[in-house]
Amino acid sequence: MNELTALDFGPDFCWGVSTAAYQIEGAPQADGKGPSIWDRFTHSKGKIYQNQNGDRACEFYYKYADDLQLLSSLGIKNFRFSLSWPRILPEGLIKTNEAGIDFYNRVIDSCLELDIEPWITLYHWDLPQALQARGGWTNREILNWFEVYVMLCVRKFGDRVRYWMILNEPMVFTGAGYFLGVHAPGLKGLKNFLPAIHHATLCQGIGGQMVRSELSSAIIGSTFSCSYLESASEREKDLLATSRLDALLNRLFLEPALGLGYPIKDLPVLSRLENYLQQSDEQRMIFDFDFVGIQNYTREIVKYNFWVPYIKADLVKAAEREVPVSAMGWEVYPESIYHMLKKYNQYNIKSLIITENGLALNDEPSSQSVKDERRIEYLEQVLAQVLRAQKEDVPVDGYFYWTFIDNFEWAEGYYPRFGLVYNQHLEQRRMVKQSGLWWQTFLQQTATPKGPFVQ
Ligand code: BGC
Repeated sequence: MNELTALDFGPDFCWGVSTAAYQIEGAPQADGKGPSIWDRFTHSKGKIYQNQNGDRACEFYYKYADDLQLLSSLGIKNFRFSLSWPRILPEGLIKTNEAGIDFYNRVIDSCLELDIEPWITLYHWDLPQALQARGGWTNREILNWFEVYVMLCVRKFGDRVRYWMILNEPMVFTGAGYFLGVHAPGLKGLKNFLPAIHHATLCQGIGGQMVRSELSSAIIGSTFSCSYLESASEREKDLLATSRLDALLNRLFLEPALGLGYPIKDLPVLSRLENYLQQSDEQRMIFDFDFVGIQNYTREIVKYNFWVPYIKADLVKAAEREVPVSAMGWEVYPESIYHMLKKYNQYNIKSLIITENGLALNDEPSSQSVKDERRIEYLEQVLAQVLRAQKEDVPVDGYFYWTFIDNFEWAEGYYPRFGLVYNQHLEQRRMVKQSGLWWQTFLQQTATPKGPFVQ
């Protein structure tokens, strides 16, 4: 096989890296920032691996200028980061924190000076704790709170930022945070999950509409977690379990935005969402996104399990399947990205962008380098799968690697390392991994790496 080059993807294909505020910024109380649900959750005992927290993370709040220089030196031209709502509105509403706004102004301006396109995610899971005290995503009031926040962000940053993503992975923050209780705010059960789903779906649509109304030229997307699902067997029970899980993991948040409503037929428990539906909600959930962000890391094998409430489906653990696994315990299966691109293409979406994909390893630095050949191999294989989809006419316009620098990986703390750059967390020293250097060489071939849509 000929070696893959960035140009194979076309001159407008957009190459970047993704990050999120809580996972990199640190500085949880600096300059007037208010607490988020993640500040609270990580400081409750027993929630996070070894009781770690994001208090320092990568100290990006202090080191952003050097980090962006480093990013630029690797030839990365698109930087996806999220805004911390409580850094901007410490209590979630009303009182703005000018120092927080200034921080993001500096990040954006530094990007532009370095010829890096900033891509903003409005919500990557760090809800202001003050709003959680009022029910957070379970309270319908969040529609108003979110409007206030979005409006402020587009007014402050919209003069320089073209690319906006409304939510990051609503399935994960509602499922893990409001049903399983393993992510912040640690709530459980359908009584929390269902309203959280509905309000997040509404905010996704409303957020899109608001950005559009304020910034007519903005390029607007939202990002969706997805898993390539295979049934453990051809037995009808396993096949039905797979389609229930598909409705939950891959369709629940996207289909309402496309005007298809919730996938109730394949997952009947979702009919209970009707209890939360108000007049004209179906309309408000719809938004014509310029692009859909796909975030895929693995494949899952699904089997029927009577004992799992509502969904009666279970995953066969990767460890039991004798397949290669990442430091997250996820199967390393590069082909899954191809299948997800093909799947989402069936909806006739204008543009698909892989806004996250990556491989976590337990990288160990030697004196001068971090030898992560497995990550390079993974990247080559994933990109070949992206190209395969593109050649079959899937409109895939970009790939963002997760993530730039080893960071705070939510409930797993610091042990899974996804970065192209190694972070020595104690001393906050950065070291570009072999994969970072590989990426740099790969990107050198891009002629106009500015991304699609831009003239
Ligand atoms: C999230 C990231 C996370 C990554 C790896 C995605 O679910 O958006 O914040 O770090 O996956 O787990």
